[in-house]
Parts: sequence; C-alpha cells; structure tokens
Amino acid sequence: MMDWSKEIEKLKKEKNAVILAHNYELPEVQDIADFVGDSLGLSIEASKTDAQVIVFCGVFFMAETAKILSPQKVVLIPEPEAGCPMADMISASQLLDLQKRYPEAATLCYVNTKAEVKAECDFCCTSANATEVVEKGLSSASSIIFVPDQYLANYVSRKTGREFITWPGYCPVHAAISEKDIERAKKLHPHAEVLVHPECRPEVTEKADQVLSTEGMCRYIKSSPQDEFIVGTEVGILHRLQKENPAKHFYPVSEEAICPDMKKINQEKIALALQDMKYQVELPEKIIQKAARSIERMLQFT
Ligand code: 13P
Ligand code: SF4
Repeated sequence: MMDWSKEIEKLKKEKNAVILAHNYELPEVQDIADFVGDSLGLSIEASKTDAQVIVFCGVFFMAETAKILSPQKVVLIPEPEAGCPMADMISASQLLDLQKRYPEAATLCYVNTKAEVKAECDFCCTSANATEVVEKGLSSASSIIFVPDQYLANYVSRKTGREFITWPGYCPVHAAISEKDIERAKKLHPHAEVLVHPECRPEVTEKADQVLSTEGMCRYIKSSPQDEFIVGTEVGILHRLQKENPAKHFYPVSEEAICPDMKKINQEKIALALQDMKYQVELPEKIIQKAARSIERMLQFT
C-alpha cells in the first residue's frame, strides 16, 4: 500500500505548501496537517502563512475564505465537492432581497456562507467570536440581519440581549442533536461535563454546561480539571481531543453526528492535489475585495 504521508511531505517541500485542516476532518488528514483548528483559527492561519500554496482540508466556504484573505496565493481544496449544506441555504440575491425589506439594518453573516454572500455583508463572524462581533462591532447598529444560522443567531441573541432579523438556515448535523440525546448521555455519564456547539437547537444549548466553538472546546478541555466530557458536535473532533488529552474520557452526544462533507478528503486526495495543483479556488476580483472587508472587520475583534 502506498505511504501517502511520505509523498505529501515531499510534495509540500517541493511546492512550498502548508496543509490546514478543520477539527472535523478524518484522523488521517488531521495527523498530517500543519495546523488543525476551527473556522476562525483556520482563517487567521491562512491570513498569516508564508507558504505559497495553501492546501485546505475542510469544506468549500472555508477554502474560499482562505482565498479571500490570501488572494495572491494558490489555494487548493483536494475535494471540490466538499460543501456545507448550511452555506448553500442562502444566496446573494436572497440576502439582497432581505436587505431591501430592512434597509436600516446592518448585516452580519456567519462564516458558513458563500463568498458572494460575504461580499454583501458588513461583518462576518464565526461561532468563536459572534458574541464579541455583535457587542463590539455592531453596538451602534439599530437593527441587525444575522444569516444564515437561525440557531447560532438565537444563541447570540440570548447572550447579548439583541434581537436579530434571521434566516431559516441550520446545520443538518447539529440540528439533528436532540434534547433526548443530551438526557441519555447525562444518564450514562452523570459526572461528565456537557459541551455543545452553538449551531445546536436552543433546547440543546440550554441543557449544556458550556456552549463553545470547536476550538473553544479543545481549549476548555485542556485547561479543565474535569476528566469526563459529553461532546455535542461533529464526532471528528474526538480524534483531536483524545490525542491532546489521553487521560481524559470523551462521549459523543450522538454517534450519528457525522458531517459527510468533512469526510470527503483523505491523504491520497491531498497528495494528488499537490501533485497536479488541483483544485484551485478561484473567485472574481470584485467578490474577493468586497468579501475581504467583512472578514477583516471580524478579525479586528479577535
Ligand atoms: P467551528 O468554527 O466551531 O469549527 O464550526 C465550523 C462548523 O462548520 C461547525 O459545524
Ligand atoms: Fe456545514 Fe454542519 Fe458540516 Fe459544519 S457540520 S460543515 S455547518 S454541514
């Protein structure tokens, strides 16, 4: 069997490439990545890397964000069909129609959106900084459109006391996690702390001890004296959690919380991407310029 990791190491040097991977990617991808993180961490890493080529192992909107922040670099996504169903739930023209109905409102978009949507927004946010962006960046806005995740908007609204004009978008993976799943996991592991992602439904986030982005979970668990955790997000994160905290115990809220799009990239596809310099993320110059404003505004608060 081919040892793809050796091939990837060789090609990375030849092409001056860096490999970025999201916390939900397959273990074999996380293990060869130069950086593993959440949407925010990956955006920051993409904006400051010295490498000429960024191999982005995540879903398409994440690779687009890397391209927007580093337009002069080559950004490769080893599997161009790795999309995000939530990001596909709103288009730029749908957002423009909503903005026409609320001309006074500022627009905040979750990073899980297409580049064309980011280009029409005032601010971008991730699950790690949404509250901060609303409190610091949008404190003077009379009203705020927050798209596309209705559940993230609901969570940030409870945290900040602000009401949002929302969109009925959601993540199918997190929305499938139920209150019953939490109750079952708590019964099985009564001493464990419950951590969930803010893309979960309100009845789920209300039952959690902590509501955190994926990187927030990694950080929290590392510094916690607790040694048992019920994890309410996509199960791919358990690989990193177990690797970083070998003495701690992790229980997924639901074994079925699997994002199929985050499992589409593997070592072979990364090696082929580097060999053939495919698939390159390309965006119109105008979209890059407009979308960069909303992302850079977000990065000021992080
Ligand atoms: P994070 O930014 O918390 O990693 O979340 C990204 C995502 O797609 C969650 O489903
Ligand atoms: Fe999109 Fe949900 Fe998959 Fe994250 S887990 S990439 S929000 S579908």
